[in-house]
Amino acid sequence: MDSIHIRGGVTLQGKVRIQGSKNAALPILAASILTKEPSCIRNCPRIADVYRMLSLLNSLGCEVSWENDGIRICAGNICSGDMPKEAITGMRSSLCLLGAMTGRCGEVVMEHPGGCVIGERPIDLHLWALGQMGVAFEEAGGRLYARAEELHGAYIELPIASVGATENILLAAVMAQGDTVICGAAREPEVVALCRYLQCCGACIEGVGTGLLRICGGRKLKGADFRVPADRIVAGTYLFGCMITGGNVFLEEAPAGEMGSVLRLAESMGTQCDLAQEGIYVQSVPRPILPSAIRTAPYPGFPTDLQSMALAVMTVGEGKCLVEENIFENRFRVVEPLRAMGADISVLDSRRVLVKGVERLSGRDTEALELRGGAALVLAGLRAEGETRIQGCGYIYRGYENISRDLRELGARIISV
Ligand code: EPZ
Repeated sequence: MDSIHIRGGVTLQGKVRIQGSKNAALPILAASILTKEPSCIRNCPRIADVYRMLSLLNSLGCEVSWENDGIRICAGNICSGDMPKEAITGMRSSLCLLGAMTGRCGEVVMEHPGGCVIGERPIDLHLWALGQMGVAFEEAGGRLYARAEELHGAYIELPIASVGATENILLAAVMAQGDTVICGAAREPEVVALCRYLQCCGACIEGVGTGLLRICGGRKLKGADFRVPADRIVAGTYLFGCMITGGNVFLEEAPAGEMGSVLRLAESMGTQCDLAQEGIYVQSVPRPILPSAIRTAPYPGFPTDLQSMALAVMTVGEGKCLVEENIFENRFRVVEPLRAMGADISVLDSRRVLVKGVERLSGRDTEALELRGGAALVLAGLRAEGETRIQGCGYIYRGYENISRDLRELGARIISV
């Protein structure tokens, strides 16, 4: 099932449960190898990237099994890692095994992860930071060889609040001898979730949720039973799906506390968001009012992963909006397909587009080029007149358990074929 067909024009109504967070689950699964005791990671989303991570962990010698709503992982017998090629190059998020494997085994060999369509995605900060902790790297034949004779703590000042680099440093630091300080650490909720899991395993981490983390290394970690928080990006996706159709929905388990910038944007566009104990009630207006500008930024700023979906909503709003992408250098791939559906979007430069709201979009055959741009096309199809058929939906399934099922629960006329 690589395509999604949508007949637009339906106002979303009803309730949908938000899945567990992809970007929290993946580093936590990697972190589970830091102890020989079994862990149970609950509420993991059943998505392609999680399945790939589990297969990779299994290939390293981990015992992995799904049990009810959790994944049981035991890394008692893992060997030093020579990771399969397709694991890394096909899934950048397995890069966090670099820190975990050097922490656990003192060495790892992996394919150098390339960039992807949203940007070059370098790993210089990962290598530089782990190098300060005693990890030696060699690159040969497109492969990266990492070895740490003796992993030690360090004072690391990150010039960019890189989520992945922060996670890799954390995974090595809990195993290193001595203390590590990360100044300029990423503050994303997914980093917080990783810290919470590591603390459940017995790690000593101070400053969680801030840009200054202190890790006391060298503690023997134990297994933990941990629940992955709900996915703020999936919740934001369905929030924008409600807005683009002028609907009223309840986002069950949506992590409102992690969505401040998203909720503020929605409310500035005329949407009413009421927080409840177990989720968010969303009431939209028939046509959103466009803010003059939105800019993506590291957390707690507006998340880059929701930029494409916000852009889709903007295409049918009243007014015009400057959209500025400040995290990745090529995250406007969805502009052309949206234009083909009738959107009025001008590309000002590689980081900025100007969108002017139009009355209607027209459904058509189109193609997803990456995960979040694909989700944005689904949202556009919900609003567009007629049928929209999206190819290349394998990208979307990497991050969404079942976007067609979820949106059908809200009344959309959508099927995966
Ligand atoms: C994580 O990617 C997420 N992926 C991304 O989500 C998310 O968009 C991104 O963080 C930003 O929030 C996962 O968690 C699996 P970064 P990551 O390192 O860690 C530059 C999705 O759709 N940089 O915070 O790769 C980099 O080029 C995905 O779910 C360096 O220059 O992002 C970018 O411009 C997409 N050198 C900026 O930092 C480095 O060594 C932020 O990247 C590392 C990063």
